[in-house]
Order: sequence, then structure tokens, then C-alpha cells
Amino acid sequence: TDLDTFITGLPKAELHLHIEGSLEPELMFALAKRNAVTIPYASVEDVRAAYAFGNLQDFLDIYYAGADVLRTARDFHDLAAAYFDRAAADGVVHAEIMFDPQTHAARGVAFATVIEGLLSGMAAAEAKHGITSSLIMSFLRHLSEDDAFATLAEAEPWLERIAAVGLDSSEVGHPPEKFARVFAAAAAKGLKLVAHAGEEGPPAYVWEALDLLYVDRIDHGNRALEDDALVARLAADGMTLTVCPLSNLKLCVVPEIAAHPIDRMLALGLKATVNSDDPAYFGGYVGDNYRAIAGGRGLDRAALATLARNSFTGSFLPAEAVAAHL
Ligand code: HPA
Ligand code: ZN
Repeated sequence: TDLDTFITGLPKAELHLHIEGSLEPELMFALAKRNAVTIPYASVEDVRAAYAFGNLQDFLDIYYAGADVLRTARDFHDLAAAYFDRAAADGVVHAEIMFDPQTHAARGVAFATVIEGLLSGMAAAEAKHGITSSLIMSFLRHLSEDDAFATLAEAEPWLERIAAVGLDSSEVGHPPEKFARVFAAAAAKGLKLVAHAGEEGPPAYVWEALDLLYVDRIDHGNRALEDDALVARLAADGMTLTVCPLSNLKLCVVPEIAAHPIDRMLALGLKATVNSDDPAYFGGYVGDNYRAIAGGRGLDRAALATLARNSFTGSFLPAEAVAAHL
């Protein structure tokens, strides 16, 4: 079989996916029409042309604006269903998807609307494709600790349906330390913990995610490679990194895919995984990300299989389910 077929056929989990970042321009237009929402684009081509980013903030401004078309539970259902169709076609058998309730609350869209729509899309995808999934509720780190606590309180009726909390949005200037108390409160409720760290922020933010937030996974983690002691710590802990190669390229975390550190991470003993982050904005789903690093870094099938295996061992699936996927 050729490498494309091998990659598609490799069973994999996706651990770093913002569901709002899977909003394709075509669906954005359809939802704008359905909800009579005005968007600042004349055409789908116009939207795609706007997706040229110099850094994380450039992207976030456009990503939050795009999310404005999401209004009803049906919208969130359709968004999730479209993602799972793409993921299933790529050989994803399990996905742990992030959602940003604060992005929607700020526009008057209720927590219940968002989560019930997503849960309905997840159930439909399991019935249609056999793909399992869980939810990671991410706090926007540019907002306050109080706002994060209020979001955690709003989630109370759905805690059984939420696997973990996360931390995303503008990294620099909003260190993990700002959310130490809310992460402790989430852990006390039985939730797992993940945080974006070391995407644009320094290695110190990765240390804080470990030592102040007690995270179960690091999202991105690229800049950890600047600190040998941190690399040793991550390796000793067996900490999973949810790496996103095409995101790193589009947000200028790496200058080109040929310079991506994914194989260096593996060589250093780090449990790296491959994920799509915001596939509609960064030019590809999980299969495209595997193909990009396979081509750009010349990864062989054994390395690709290791990355896929890491996605299960790093998941929040119960041990028996992990074993069944290996
Ligand atoms: N980084 C930070 N926040 C985000 C991202 C990301 O890559 N995607 C969506 N929100
Ligand atoms: Zn992300």
C-alpha cells in the first residue's frame, strides 16, 4: 500500500481539536444564511483568502468572528457532525474535542445550547461511524479567573459528560498560574486537565502547567524543546504532547514543515501525537497533518505508527479501551 493509504488505515485518536475551528467556510455561509447573521465576507473564496496569519492573535481574531454564526443547538450539532465525517474518513476512531463556552456566552448563546448540540452531534457520529468521543471544556485565558470559575459553575449539570478542562486563546501574558485555583477546583470535581503551553509562550509556561496546574496533557509544547531540563521532566513523566504540525506552520511557530520538530520530540523520548487543532483554518484534518510530517520530515511507517499509538495511550479512554485500540 502507498503511504497515503497506510496513514488513512492507521487507527488513531485525535486529542487536540477545537470544534469551533472545524467550521468550514461553506458551513459558515450556510449558517449565516440560516440565522440571518451578517459576516464580513463576500464569498467562500474571500473567507479562505483571509486565512493568512502572522501569529496566534491574528488567527484568534478571525476565529472568534467566524464563530458568530453559531447560534442554535442544531448549528452545534451540524458543526460536530461535519467534523466527525471528516475525522472518520481519516481513520480517526476516537476524538477528544475542545469547545469554548465563553466565546458563545459572550454572544448570548447559552451553555446548554452549545453542549446539547455538541452531545447530539457526538451521539449521531457514534451511531453513523462508530467513532467515540468526549468533551474538553476550554477556558479562554485572556479572560479572568472569575469568568473561568463562572463557566465551571455553569457546567455543573453536565459534568458527567465532560472529560476534562483545558486552557486556550492568547498565551503570552496569560500564564497557567492565573488559572491554578480554577484547575484545582475542576480536578476536585473529577475532571482531567489539559492546557495549551509552549505554543508561543516560553518554557516557563510549560513548567507552570506541570507544577501549578498538574495537567494530564500539554497541548502543543513546542517551546519545551528550548529547555533540556524540561524535556527530561516531560520524558520522565511520560507526558503526552498534542502537537499540531499544520497549525504550527500557519501560525508561524515553525517556518516550514521541513523544520518541524516532531521527529526530534520522538527521539528525545517525548510522547508526541499528531492533531489538527483548527482544521478549517489551518488547511487540513488529522490525515493531512500526518501526511505533512511524513513528507516534510521523512517519517517512516514505524514512526507514524508510534505517533498513532501515542494518541491512544495519551487519551482519556479507560485502560481496557486503550488496550483494545493498540
Ligand atoms: N492556540 C490557542 N488558542 C486556540 C488555538 C490555538 O492553537 N486554537 C483555538 N484556540
Ligand atoms: Zn489548540
